[in-house]
Amino acid sequence: MFYAHITGWGMAVPATTLTNADLEKMVETSDEWIRERTGILERRIAREGEYPADLATRAALQALQVANLSPADLELVICATSSPEHLFPATACLVQDRIGANKAGAFDLSAACSGFIYAVQMAAQSIRSGALRNALVIGTENLSRFVDWNDRNTCILFGDGAGAFVLQASERPGGVLSAVLRSDGSGADLLSVPAGGSRFPASAESVRSGQHFIHMDGREVFRFATRVMAQSTREALQAAGLRVEDVHLIIPHQANYRIIEAAARGLKLPIEKFVVNVQRYGNTSTASIPIAVCEAVQQGQLQAGDKIVLVGFGAGLTWGALTAEWTGPLPAERRVNVRGFVWLARLRSLYRRLVRFIEGILWGRREV
Ligand code: ACO
Repeated sequence: MFYAHITGWGMAVPATTLTNADLEKMVETSDEWIRERTGILERRIAREGEYPADLATRAALQALQVANLSPADLELVICATSSPEHLFPATACLVQDRIGANKAGAFDLSAACSGFIYAVQMAAQSIRSGALRNALVIGTENLSRFVDWNDRNTCILFGDGAGAFVLQASERPGGVLSAVLRSDGSGADLLSVPAGGSRFPASAESVRSGQHFIHMDGREVFRFATRVMAQSTREALQAAGLRVEDVHLIIPHQANYRIIEAAARGLKLPIEKFVVNVQRYGNTSTASIPIAVCEAVQQGQLQAGDKIVLVGFGAGLTWGALTAEWTGPLPAERRVNVRGFVWLARLRSLYRRLVRFIEGILWGRREV
């Protein structure tokens, strides 16, 4: 029997910071209002030319280095994202090529901010079934490109970033213990980017009327979120045979400090049991949970054997919670130099493009 262990983790955020004071100059808002209603002080915004696959690649390489795993040993890359680079190809394929995961299947998973939890569970299930041994799960976002910077209801909330986990099979008990994944499409209209899909393809009118931006009923989403966070945590704990008291840390989706506080109240736990970094990054959607996990590890808050809960909610509506026993890297005989594989990956990618180009000429589809 195989268990799916979290053996590597990594994060990447853009260097540019957008503070509440910056936002005061852009829309009718105040630092005080944003702090009180959300807990957010600043967020990171991708610079021009910085895209989700760039952030994802940085986070993925860190995670692989921590796990001491070669990209060539990966069999699956899942990219949970609400702001993919394209409708297709999948952002996961762009990352797969850049890191040189040449034996991996790759796909994007769309479940909004719950996406990372969904993706970890999909990877864990594949590992537990014996279908594969090594998987990379990424949450990556450039939500700032879908934000209407004139809409004070939404532009104060979101930020950019990426986080990644490596999951690996081991016969040692532990790793991902349980998960509950839920959805309620009757709330689809509460949080959406209405246009750009096949229902409302891009048109001059869709651009003019701002239909490519995030539209949100903040109050309704808030009410939904405060209801499901505690509830799904309890369900996931029950499925794992754990009690709330057994939990060392809860790593919630970082959307709003007040939502995390409500979850703490609902579970009758002190807020100190929750990892909170929403003040520095805002809501980075699928990236928020793995970024928070990375920072918890950096601050020495997580040790092997600790029981943790990841819990989140998002558009769809979707929500979910996952329990895990924290592991850390599996024992290894030699040190893998992940950066070395990246050079190899670049050369391989270039070679494949070149071969395709030459074949195009030989078959007469390209003019010299
Ligand atoms: N600055 C100043 N005033 C504002 C701002 C702002 N940035 N935004 C809204 N207001 C005003 C409103 O217009 C409203 O004024 P009114 O009473 O005259 O109409 C007043 O402040 C109160 O607005 P509410 O919406 O009731 O404020 P609330 O306390 O609910 O906070 C917020 C709004 C922060 C959006 C909150 O509802 C929230 O966090 N909701 C959840 C959002 C969320 O988590 N979304 C992401 C989900 S994850 C994903 O899938 C992407």
